[in-house]
Amino acid sequence: MSNRGKSLIAAFRSPVGKKVLTGLTGLGLTLFVLIHMLGNLSYLSSDPDAYNNYADTLLNLGPVLYIIELGLVAFFVIHIVIGINIYRRKRKARAVGYTQYKSVGQPSRLTISSKTMIFTGIIIMVFLVFHLLSFKYGTYYETTTADGAVVRDLKCLMTEKFQQPLYAFGYPIVVILLGFHLRHGIWSAFQSLGATKPRLTPMIYTIGVILAVLIAVGFLFVPLYIFFSQESFSCVLPS
Ligand code: HEM
Repeated sequence: MSNRGKSLIAAFRSPVGKKVLTGLTGLGLTLFVLIHMLGNLSYLSSDPDAYNNYADTLLNLGPVLYIIELGLVAFFVIHIVIGINIYRRKRKARAVGYTQYKSVGQPSRLTISSKTMIFTGIIIMVFLVFHLLSFKYGTYYETTTADGAVVRDLKCLMTEKFQQPLYAFGYPIVVILLGFHLRHGIWSAFQSLGATKPRLTPMIYTIGVILAVLIAVGFLFVPLYIFFSQESFSCVLPS
């Protein structure tokens, strides 16, 4: 490996480098969940094919989709591994733990969100495995759209799942915890990437809160709508 490559790796292994990497991957993942949440809302469109057409467009991206998925996996793994590492180092350095949380000087950013990052992070990680098994690798139903195209019927799979109380109420709990994770995470990521000017802090903090609430609330609609509307459905397996 070249000297440049070696010094880049050394930089990312330093405590500051690790914070930069968690910040960069965290912001990338935030962009993904924002797009994912907006895509999900097409379930509520008056066009009955809107959600399946949207999912089918993504599936037909071919190699581009594989590259995006590979990038997502890499971002999740880096974010989780380094996040756990930072948490363990902090705990070791502060073996006794604080008896009292108190701000020194500047307005305090110590909130329930910042103190529970490891807890909300682990829940999201466990949820992700359950989530992918339920949907991405869940039952493959098929349907024919109004245009005559045969596509995966993810809309029916979503209806089937969210008519069950475990999904309909479990998902909202997880996305609210995701909101808490993002509320602190977005602000902290910008700090790690150098946006530390006191003048910028309130603005970045507000953007973090708004984005976190928007993403959590946006994700709540589909599960709750499906559960409370209890529309009849019939999913079809491929013949
Ligand atoms: C109400 C909440 C949610 C619903 C209804 C939902 C629905 C879905 C569906 C239907 C898929 C399968 C798409 C396909 O295979 O084409 C999917 C994939 C996925 N979801 Fe969600 N999701 C929700 C929340 C989340 C959250 C909070 C996260 C992350 C923290 C997340 C991460 C993912 C990932 C990583 C994939 C795989 C993407 C890919 O590999 O193409 N989802 N979701």
